[in-house]
Amino acid sequence: MKMLQLVTILLTLSGVFSDWGVKYPDNPICAVRGFSVPIPCSYYYPTSNPNIQVTQMLWCSMNSNTDKCQNPPYVYNSASITTSDFEYAGDNKSNCTLLIHNVQFSYSGVYKFRFITDNPSGKWTGEPGATLQVADLKVSLIRLSGIGTLKQGDSLNLTCDVNCTQSSSQFVWSKNNERLNTSGRVLHFPAVTVRDSGNYTCTWKTNRASGSETISLHIEGGWGVNYTTPICAVRGFSVSIPCSYSYPQHNYQVTQKLWCSMNSNTGGCENPPYVYNSSSITTSDFEYAGDDKSDCTLLIHNVQFSYSGEYRFRFITNVSGDMWTGEPGQILQVSDLKVSLIRLSGNGTLKQGDSLNLTCDVKCTQSSSQFVWSKNNERLNTSGRVLHFPAVTVRDSGNYTCTWKTNMTSGSETISLLVEGENPDHQPNWIIAVVTSGVIFIILVLLGAAICNRRRKPDAPEDNSRNAGEQTQSPQVKQLPLPNEEVPQQGDVTYASVCIKDNNLNNGRVHTEQKKEDISVIYSTVTIK
Ligand SMILES: *[C@@H]1O[C@H](CO)[C@@H](O)[C@H](O)[C@H]1NC(C)=O
Ligand SMILES: *[C@@H]1O[C@H](CO)[C@@H](O)[C@H](O)[C@H]1NC(C)=O
Ligand SMILES: *[C@@H]1O[C@H](CO)[C@@H](O)[C@H](O)[C@H]1NC(C)=O
Ligand SMILES: *[C@@H]1O[C@H](CO)[C@@H](O)[C@H](O)[C@H]1NC(C)=O
Ligand SMILES: *[C@@H]1O[C@H](CO)[C@@H](O)[C@H](O)[C@H]1NC(C)=O
Ligand SMILES: *[C@@H]1O[C@H](CO)[C@@H](O)[C@H](O)[C@H]1NC(C)=O
Ligand SMILES: *[C@@H]1O[C@H](CO)[C@@H](O)[C@H](O)[C@H]1NC(C)=O
Ligand SMILES: *[C@@H]1O[C@H](CO)[C@@H](O)[C@H](O)[C@H]1NC(C)=O
Ligand SMILES: *[C@@H]1O[C@H](CO)[C@@H](O)[C@H](O)[C@H]1NC(C)=O
Ligand SMILES: *[C@@H]1O[C@H](CO)[C@@H](O)[C@H](O)[C@H]1NC(C)=O
Ligand SMILES: *[C@@H]1O[C@H](CO)[C@@H](O)[C@H](O)[C@H]1NC(C)=O
Ligand SMILES: *[C@@H]1O[C@H](CO)[C@@H](O)[C@H](O)[C@H]1NC(C)=O
Repeated sequence: MKMLQLVTILLTLSGVFSDWGVKYPDNPICAVRGFSVPIPCSYYYPTSNPNIQVTQMLWCSMNSNTDKCQNPPYVYNSASITTSDFEYAGDNKSNCTLLIHNVQFSYSGVYKFRFITDNPSGKWTGEPGATLQVADLKVSLIRLSGIGTLKQGDSLNLTCDVNCTQSSSQFVWSKNNERLNTSGRVLHFPAVTVRDSGNYTCTWKTNRASGSETISLHIEGGWGVNYTTPICAVRGFSVSIPCSYSYPQHNYQVTQKLWCSMNSNTGGCENPPYVYNSSSITTSDFEYAGDDKSDCTLLIHNVQFSYSGEYRFRFITNVSGDMWTGEPGQILQVSDLKVSLIRLSGNGTLKQGDSLNLTCDVKCTQSSSQFVWSKNNERLNTSGRVLHFPAVTVRDSGNYTCTWKTNMTSGSETISLLVEGENPDHQPNWIIAVVTSGVIFIILVLLGAAICNRRRKPDAPEDNSRNAGEQTQSPQVKQLPLPNEEVPQQGDVTYASVCIKDNNLNNGRVHTEQKKEDISVIYSTVTIK
């Protein structure tokens, strides 16, 4: 009970002393320069006497006034209202809220409220006043990559900074006045695109004040380098690396063109070494086949295995700081072209009748490539990576070249095929054979003319046509060689069944005939040795 009495007495005593007063916020108020801020305030005086009327309200700044605010200057005086940044938002009863517009750094300081009543001794200045801090809100662009104008792919942060310690505040970002989903003082762009261009506004909010600042982001389009899918090249040959690039041509001129290899360089190839530098051209395997505008094609000669890797094109313009490196770059794969002989039958030296494949291998995947075969530099009619010989003959001997082609490169490799057997180009044998067969023919023609007339058989045996590299396996039916053809000498007997027209014989030419309408057909057995 004693305790309660004491509390009551204390309250009464304090009530006596606190009949007159002004209440300000306990903590300093933070405001953003250029924006408005209210300074909440309330005041009181003895209400037991309802006759007390507030007649004048005054606000003064301690930057310009003395500690009691008893004399001018005032930032607000209800007796002489002027338009200024200081607006009284309170009333003549109990609310003394002051609204400050277009806050300036110079407005920082302590503000006090004073009120005067119709009671002769009823004047009061509230202590210790309200403290205002004016802060700057700054939005800055921090580039994390790239220099010069902002280009696609550059990385950056937009940060919002307020030099004011306000316990509870938040940052809200908007782009072209549309609120963004992010929060926090940093807006991070790992790689900007043209579509990120726009006006970005950071709004900083506390429960009392708010302020915002806008930054304009312009990402210049039209900068770029285009490469193609990985390219395969054959060691020792040349390859053309297609490349195109672009930049805003009305504002810039390209002054330097560079190609670098990621085997020896790093990142954006800002520094040497370069495999090509347009400002210091040296003879090397790397030749620029592009131009100053849009073509950055690189030609690599005498490709080596060590040239495998990634290549990047970089160009520098006449505007300081404006340059571009196309990342990631072009992949080059270097492969060997291998032609191999795969025996499908027989072993030891190649003999007639052996079966084999010649295969062409290049160890890389190129979507559109083709294999072209040629024998002793004459193009063969086959395509595909395998040349198949079901049964080789001496005539298949020769140098076989496989050429692998894409529209960017080509490479070739040759293999020598030697099929054992008697040399078909042996001149004396050849002449003897022709002469011998000629004599035998004439005799046989004379002898057989009658037989042929008697035992007329309309169907002549079919001519066995030869495919490239193939020879028929049936020795009974053989094409009789033309006099200007080489005669295959196989050691064993070759039979040829021919029907010879009389008129053809007069020409001295032997002709295989397949047509039925022949009048005189003979069957002859020829031995060629
Ligand atoms: C107080 O304000 C009210 C209206 O807001 C006004 O009618 C009244 O005259 C004022 N009193 C004095 C003493 O100025
Ligand atoms: C005092 O006036 C201001 C502005 O008119 C208002 O926002 C605030 O709520 C008022 N305060 C009180 C305690 O009524
Ligand atoms: C914020 O910085 C400005 C100068 O940039 C300064 O005038 C002002 O007093 C600072 N405000 C605070 C609250 O520190
Ligand atoms: C905002 O982000 C939340 C989660 O972070 C997501 O669920 C929502 O779809 C986003 N809204 C928009 C408009 O992007
Ligand atoms: C940029 O923003 C990211 C993500 O907020 C942050 O991790 C990074 O530290 C910032 N970098 C700079 C330099 O401000
Ligand atoms: C960005 O603001 C500028 C003025 O500051 C204005 O000219 C431009 O149109 C704005 N851009 C967009 C996309 O709103
Ligand atoms: C790169 O390719 C894209 C898509 O094909 C095209 O839109 C762009 O213009 C090309 N850029 C260059 C530098 O050639
Ligand atoms: C290219 O070569 C020239 C001449 O040697 C040199 O001045 C220039 O710096 C080189 N370019 C780069 C990007 O290093
Ligand atoms: C290879 O030749 C040997 C005799 O020289 C023979 O015994 C063997 O069967 C042959 N192999 C094949 C696969 O023809
Ligand atoms: C040889 O070539 C033929 C025809 O291209 C093919 O069918 C066969 O598989 C090949 N054989 C080998 C062992 O490469
Ligand atoms: C095949 O190539 C070799 C050299 O590699 C050459 O000596 C030979 O004459 C060539 N043969 C033919 C038929 O071209
Ligand atoms: C090569 O051919 C491919 C498809 O056939 C095509 O897309 C590409 O543009 C061609 N490249 C060159 C340099 O001709």
